[in-house]
Amino acid sequence: IKTIGVLTSGGDAPGMNAAVRAIVRAGISKGYRMMGIQRGYNGLINGECYEMNVRSVSEIIHRGGTILYTARCLEFKTQEGQAKGLARCKELGIDALVVIGGDGSFMGARALANQGIPCIGLPGTIDNDIACSEYTIGYDTAMNTAVEAIDKLRDTTQSHDRCSVVEVMGHHAGYIALNVGIATGALAVLLPEIPFDFERDILQRMRQTQVTGKKHFIIIVSEGVVGAQELANQIQAATGVDSRATVLGHIQRGGSPTVRDRVNASLMGYHAIDLLDKGIYNRVVAVSGDKIVDYDVNVALSMHKTIDREMIDIANAISI
Ligand code: F6P
Repeated sequence: IKTIGVLTSGGDAPGMNAAVRAIVRAGISKGYRMMGIQRGYNGLINGECYEMNVRSVSEIIHRGGTILYTARCLEFKTQEGQAKGLARCKELGIDALVVIGGDGSFMGARALANQGIPCIGLPGTIDNDIACSEYTIGYDTAMNTAVEAIDKLRDTTQSHDRCSVVEVMGHHAGYIALNVGIATGALAVLLPEIPFDFERDILQRMRQTQVTGKKHFIIIVSEGVVGAQELANQIQAATGVDSRATVLGHIQRGGSPTVRDRVNASLMGYHAIDLLDKGIYNRVVAVSGDKIVDYDVNVALSMHKTIDREMIDIANAISI
């Protein structure tokens, strides 16, 4: 391997820049030529790339988003798209690739790996929905952003004796919602992993706390479970408590990464280059406890992880 390409793919996540910085600098320090590929696999197909030096990644460790831009590339899911990507790697002299993104991005990497381009995946998504890793780049920042916003909502919710229904992101996973729910002391957290029951999950919990004097309520809804506005309307109609809906939306994807995101992204980025340098190919880098580990890409893509049921029980037990 002489030249290593790096790209970010799927939804952007705070800390992706810290990973790009670590990958580029570790690569250069080990003697590789580093190529930044823009706009994910779209950019690979179109040949949108440039050579990076150590200064190309200056002043980015603290910035959200990704300096390489990102995209969700449908074409790369097809054999034709993958063949174009492979041809472009050959044309540009890219011998190996580091892909920062989610499972869909790793599937693209695996397709290239099967065609002889060694690939390493780094988990980058705010959703924390990558099975092989306990932690994904951007997850910590997204949760902190949501908590900061909900703390502000709490002030106004309390002042008006209202109910605030807050929708957070997470795709099909409730990791953001559950942790943010605990951190903000929400009365209820609605997760995609648990079937939602209006009477049990909302009305009973509200009534139970009203008996002990509670007059304002924060309810966290993971996207896709039920519309925040629809739920706020239902709550108001059923309880008479003035209710408002807030969808935090893409604000959760931006902003300066937290320490945890910067450090984990930096360590995982370095690890990716170390693997390639040692001739260990087609791996997904992951966090396990306080260690950086890696798995064969096929193993990584076949793994499953589930939400912590005990955490759900604890959240419910202390929101009374
Ligand atoms: O995967 C990150 C994420 O923000 C999810 O939480 C959300 O479901 C999705 O991306 C939104 O995608 P888009 O940026 O295409 O609107």
